[in-house]
Amino acid sequence: MIAAIAAIGRNWQLGLHGRLPWPQDSADMDWFIQHTKERVLLCGPKTFESIAHLDGSHDRMVINIATDDRWMGLDDAMIVGGASTYRHFAPHIEQLYLSQIDYDGPADCLFPVEAFRPDQLRNVIWRK
Ligand SMILES: NC(=O)c1ccc[n+]([C@@H]2O[C@H](COP(=O)([O-])OP(=O)(O)OC[C@H]3O[C@@H](n4cnc5c(N)ncnc54)[C@H](OP(=O)(O)O)[C@@H]3O)[C@@H](O)[C@H]2O)c1
Repeated sequence: MIAAIAAIGRNWQLGLHGRLPWPQDSADMDWFIQHTKERVLLCGPKTFESIAHLDGSHDRMVINIATDDRWMGLDDAMIVGGASTYRHFAPHIEQLYLSQIDYDGPADCLFPVEAFRPDQLRNVIWRK
């Protein structure tokens, strides 16, 4: 299954200055770790810089889609961002995992909610 996981602020904020906009949130990090174990994680080149260290831990494989074509043809993978990578894969994403962060501040990139169909958005698995 092609899935995607993202943490979003109250207004779909996703990133700021190449990082997450909010201070580290351990409940969100635990949720991300839980849902990415034993998965192939696909990310864009900017996001790769911050998650490359997860490659090999808990049987994860982290693939930078801009420099490594091993993701092509995969039918089981987890898209982990950033904004342009979620947008790129949106039509193919069968399950969205979203973590709502209690954050109202600035961002320089947003989750591309407009790229998703209503049926995809109805079936989101939210972090509780
Ligand atoms: N909140 C979250 O859950 C979460 C998760 C991941 C990342 N983030 C945040 O998102 C921000 C980064 O997002 P982003 O969209 O700038 O970064 P990204 O998706 O990691 O990388 C995209 C950049 O790489 C380029 N690129 C080159 N080849 C590409 C390809 N084959 N596919 C896609 N992109 C390619 C894109 O160019 P074009 O623009 O020309 O396509 C764009 O400049 C950071 O602040 C990061 O912390 C947040």
